[in-house]
Amino acid sequence: MKIAPWIAIAAFGFAGAAVAQDDNTLNVEGETLLTETAAPAHMDSVDTIYSGWRFRSSETQALQTDDFDNPGMIFVDTAIEQWDKVDGSEGKACSSCHEDVADFAGLRTKLPRVDNGELVTMENLINECRTDRMGAEAWKWSKGKMTAMTALIGLQSRGMAMDVATEGEAAPFWEKGKELYYTRVGQLDMACSNCHEDNYGVMIRADHLSQGQINGFPTYRLKNAKLNSIHGRFKGCMKNIRATPFAEGGDEFKALELYLASRGQGLSVETPSVRN
Ligand code: HEC
Ligand code: HEC
Repeated sequence: MKIAPWIAIAAFGFAGAAVAQDDNTLNVEGETLLTETAAPAHMDSVDTIYSGWRFRSSETQALQTDDFDNPGMIFVDTAIEQWDKVDGSEGKACSSCHEDVADFAGLRTKLPRVDNGELVTMENLINECRTDRMGAEAWKWSKGKMTAMTALIGLQSRGMAMDVATEGEAAPFWEKGKELYYTRVGQLDMACSNCHEDNYGVMIRADHLSQGQINGFPTYRLKNAKLNSIHGRFKGCMKNIRATPFAEGGDEFKALELYLASRGQGLSVETPSVRN
């Protein structure tokens, strides 16, 4: 594999001490979540897929096992308040039309999906209600109100298996996402696959490389003490390899999100997860 010098030092300088994912079991509030399963058939070079939780330190892991300790839950609480808040020209709150947020159970496992020929994510669905049904302003993709609401809605699917559609109408989007995943970009000339497929388990600087799964998003990161969106994380990884990131909410990241979701088929939704 041709690999840039910076990453060669960072990754392979420590490769002797490469450690795999651990064997820990994730129990959240007494329920066991699936953090490891057979890779879906479309993944040629990986046999088993693992949640990013399996690569974190035991201290970080522990934060996700109890909702009282999970710092992401504070943001979920703000979304519960937001749910009943009237906003926009129509004088409506989410709760004016949606009886119970628990009715969204299962939705997280199916997103992104194709609606009327377009690939849509959770953020798109929420903003469609805000702009078209409430007469309110769209929320910014990775800002607090949006990540809190995607966490609250995602939480309703916690413990359920990721199960996105990749065929039929979804196929062209999925193909595009796959291509992006394997395309080298940036000054370091690297693809997502170079780290998250070829080198997971390796220590890179002080970080333990995972498979880059998205089953836990939005994710509370200790690093910035807030919930982080999927596209926000993609952006960060692209910046790290000194590439110009695609736009949050744009076609490239939506396609990449679908492809990544499909690489995690069968893993439990962990929303909101905790990472470093
Ligand atoms: C005026 C009524 C109305 C309001 C207010 C409203 N929604 Fe909706 N929402 C709908 C309708 C109608 C649909 C499409 C049909 C469906 O799936 O229930 C929908 C769909 C959705 C979906 C996709 C559900 C799916 O299974 O595809 C989500 C998520 C959602 N709304 C979240 C919200 C949130 C969050 C708010 C508040 C910020 C909100 N909605 C406010 C009426 C509304
Ligand atoms: C130089 C190596 C490198 C490259 C290339 C890279 N990442 Fe990452 N990525 C990391 C590191 C380090 C982390 C934090 C530790 C971890 O979870 O792997 C991370 C974390 C992630 C996570 C969070 C996983 C979780 O469990 O929360 C996702 C998702 C992700 N990356 C997606 C991508 C995508 C998509 C690309 C390509 C656009 C990409 N990464 C390219 C190094 C990389």
